[in-house]
Amino acid sequence: MTASLALDGLSVGFPTGALGDPRIVSAVDGVSFTVASGEIFGLVGESGCGKSTLANAIMGLLPTSTIITGSARVHDAEVIGLSDAALRQMRGNTAAMVFQDASTSLDPTWPVGDQIAETIRAHQSVTRSEAKEKALALMTEVGLTDPSERYGDAPHRLSGGMRQRIVIAAALANNPKLLIADEPTTALDVTLQAQILQLIDRLRVAHNTAVLLITHDLGVIAQVCDRVGVMYAGQLVEVAPVAELFANPRHPYTRALLAARPGAQSGAERLAVIPGQVPDLSEEIAGCRFASRCPRRIDACAVTPARVSLGDSEVACWNLPTGGTE
Ligand SMILES: Nc1ncnc2c1ncn2[C@@H]1O[C@H](COP(=O)(O)OP(=O)(O)OP(=O)(O)O)[C@@H](O)[C@H]1O
Ligand SMILES: [Mg+2]
Repeated sequence: MTASLALDGLSVGFPTGALGDPRIVSAVDGVSFTVASGEIFGLVGESGCGKSTLANAIMGLLPTSTIITGSARVHDAEVIGLSDAALRQMRGNTAAMVFQDASTSLDPTWPVGDQIAETIRAHQSVTRSEAKEKALALMTEVGLTDPSERYGDAPHRLSGGMRQRIVIAAALANNPKLLIADEPTTALDVTLQAQILQLIDRLRVAHNTAVLLITHDLGVIAQVCDRVGVMYAGQLVEVAPVAELFANPRHPYTRALLAARPGAQSGAERLAVIPGQVPDLSEEIAGCRFASRCPRRIDACAVTPARVSLGDSEVACWNLPTGGTE
């Protein structure tokens, strides 16, 4: 089966530092995974581990000075190195993205319905009234009541949850092969969060879209994802089916992340923290980036671990724990 998204050794570096001391922030380092159509792949990791950078690299949204190597194929077409014109053609068409804050993707001065219709007209040869009809149908599909009432509203007249539904409707307007949702529910309360996740789940079934769902929240991963990738400091350390990840976490970092979940420690008042600090990504880091914090570090970790299959999981670690969670 053709993967709707296939990353192979994707790396992203941001040139930074002072004149005379140029550095590169290595935000994403050699990431490979695939997402099939109709699949929700969750990408999880702490703040700053490179999740958004990875998404923005796929969508061609990074500054031109960014150094991107490796491959990202969307519906079998390479997207790294595409021209601006080709990227504009791809965005909102083959691939679409939903951000955390709907207000960053919506024009505050424009009726929300027209914004969806415009996305349709940008990629399909339809008349104005056909685009409006399609936009209204999409508004209904994403669960907005009274779509014809809402159509003419400016974004500020809608609640946060309704705005996020509009953004999702616009993202799906041209039936993308790939939908990237970067923390799509983080700004919403728990009830709305569950509703939006259910919506994404329902839509991927209806449209057979591949979904890359980015979150720092393992609860979100557990709710809707089929498979999960765990990122640490720009590297993908583990990929597993969701049930397997929770039942049988393999990588020491995955185990630490699960143990640090709120409520994971019974009766404990103290906040679970992973000892040590995320490495400075502008420094050269040889080998496994988790090694400096890893309780299982051995000499071999100075070399980047190869990813190996273990049951249904794939994990990059030279000294895998065996047995239950530590
Ligand atoms: N334009 C940029 N220039 C330099 N460094 C950047 C730039 N954008 C991101 N970074 C750095 O790249 C790393 C990854 O950041 P990124 O925003 O991708 O993380 P994230 O996993 O999405 O975090 P969060 O969960 O907070 O959204 C961080 O160290 C960040 O400071
Ligand atoms: Mg982010």
